[in-house]
Amino acid sequence: ASSDYDLSTPLDSKDAVGLRQGLASYGDPHFSLFLRKVFIKALGYSEDALSRPIIGIVNTYSSFNPCHANIPQLMEAVKRGVHLAGGLAIDFPTISLHESFSSPTSMYLRNLMSMDTEEMILAQPVDAVVLIGGCDKTVPAQLMGGLSANKPILHLVTGPMMPGSHNGVRIGACTDCRNNWAKFRAGAIDIEEIAAINEELAPTAGTCGVMGTASTMAAILVGLGLMPFAGATAPAVSSARLRIAEATGANAVAATRNAGLRPQTLLTRDSFINAIIVLQAIGGSTNAVVHLMAIINRHPGLTGEPITLNTVDAVGRNVPLLVDLKPSGDGYMTDFHNSGGMAALLRQLRPLLKLNAMTISGRTLGEELDLAPTLGPAPGSPNSVVSLLTSPLYPASALVVLRGNLAPGGAVMKASASKYRRLLNHRGPAVVFAGAADLARRIDDPDLRVTADSVLVLQNIGPVGHPGMPEAGLVPIPRKLAAQGVEDMLRVSDGRMSGTAGGTVVLHVSPEAAVAESVLGVVKDGDIVICDVERRVLEVEISEDEIKRRIEERRRKLEEEGVLTKEGGPARRIRGYRGLYVRNVNQAEKGADFDFLTAAGGL
Ligand code: FES
Ligand code: MG
Repeated sequence: ASSDYDLSTPLDSKDAVGLRQGLASYGDPHFSLFLRKVFIKALGYSEDALSRPIIGIVNTYSSFNPCHANIPQLMEAVKRGVHLAGGLAIDFPTISLHESFSSPTSMYLRNLMSMDTEEMILAQPVDAVVLIGGCDKTVPAQLMGGLSANKPILHLVTGPMMPGSHNGVRIGACTDCRNNWAKFRAGAIDIEEIAAINEELAPTAGTCGVMGTASTMAAILVGLGLMPFAGATAPAVSSARLRIAEATGANAVAATRNAGLRPQTLLTRDSFINAIIVLQAIGGSTNAVVHLMAIINRHPGLTGEPITLNTVDAVGRNVPLLVDLKPSGDGYMTDFHNSGGMAALLRQLRPLLKLNAMTISGRTLGEELDLAPTLGPAPGSPNSVVSLLTSPLYPASALVVLRGNLAPGGAVMKASASKYRRLLNHRGPAVVFAGAADLARRIDDPDLRVTADSVLVLQNIGPVGHPGMPEAGLVPIPRKLAAQGVEDMLRVSDGRMSGTAGGTVVLHVSPEAAVAESVLGVVKDGDIVICDVERRVLEVEISEDEIKRRIEERRRKLEEEGVLTKEGGPARRIRGYRGLYVRNVNQAEKGADFDFLTAAGGL
């Protein structure tokens, strides 16, 4: 270790780079290292400790984030794993995003968290990082940032919460938040009962216990090869979760010795195809489509045919829905874990998967599957929520991509979560809401002209229109129809919906209503909207000339009101992060990332 101060020793001669990273900061490299050691030794580290590979642990604990409440124990276990494997673990914070405490919406802050993650990984002398996250936007943000930073990344999610119980029936956030709220709105349950349910919906630490966005992203991490199989499903409060954390620490030390495990090398087109196969097979969250597009567009070196929304749809046509979890089905994440979890699922999917894709262990996905023990009841048996590939829950295409004059850039729908399947091929008159405020004002108006066959169209909740693209796409059933027993209607918007929600809901319409050339932005009450999932069509029955005329008329109006410049950009100067956001966010089809953060970004 004393050779670190020997001016004739080249500092890059060691395996573990550690404190030698980016040594130009303070004049000569030896002095830079000397100075860094001065300060890190104030924390009590020895020369021996500092000569080890340094594993950064990204700490996203916050007292506002119950989904991350177990992070202190997880960090302790990761550190144990790092130290047992001969590394030095050093944790550091980044921002923490909880779905309910990230106003106006967590998606607004996802890109900020990704920048925080990327820059702190780059700024600090870490050889690899363990990214601890879990709540919906945190895994995508960490993967986007980690992929751009391109040091080895190992994901550790906090894990799903346990289900609660009401009147002897299991309930869980947040599918049952919505179901029960809808019952309360319709007058089927009273105020005492909804209050009792409120106490039980999130009964432990951890992420939402259904196949919402958090669980979906966790499963996708396994599909990408960035997390061990059990990592996606072990409950937040289980000892298994802590053992996974310990193993992740050890794996991180090993990953520092293999340059092929940097994310831009490890993640190939095949890795992303596997991720899409997983997404379709679990009937995952529609949000994951936006996140996957953002992640893919961060990758500077993907070869082969570009992966777009069309790829998500095309892959889905050959992938059946195999996991019976809410909101598409009935179970909770604990059921999935007890059914063998991702290993059981991936064994069923084996004929479809790209088995040669590399994983962070240094073994291929196929090799990992060969090594994984077979746990849980036999897939397809009554005790398992995993179906056989040969007798799926839904034949294919849980998530579909629709296109047509209403969504030239695409729109996404979770067809498997539709309640009334007849709505998957539907034609009805639009009832248009100009934004979230307009919707709140009028949706329960007894005089609203709406029937069960109407199409509820919500404008201006896209990335630019309502910065962050809130999860308002699940337009509620108008109260007067809900009271008549209507549980599902065709809904169309440029927003998102919670991964824990269900219904016949078309989301992420691109270009969004706030963009001057958007067709969604000029749809009017009474226009006939056509949704045909079989043909993947989303159209509005108005002529091209009429569309052009309406768009021109709207553009003139927006210019007159001083909202748009003649060039089509926003006219007002908006300060701060919000300004950065609306000036730079791209459309949902590209991931709603900032243009300057994409691999193609920059000048
Ligand atoms: Fe954090 Fe659902 S609120 S995962
Ligand atoms: Mg969610």
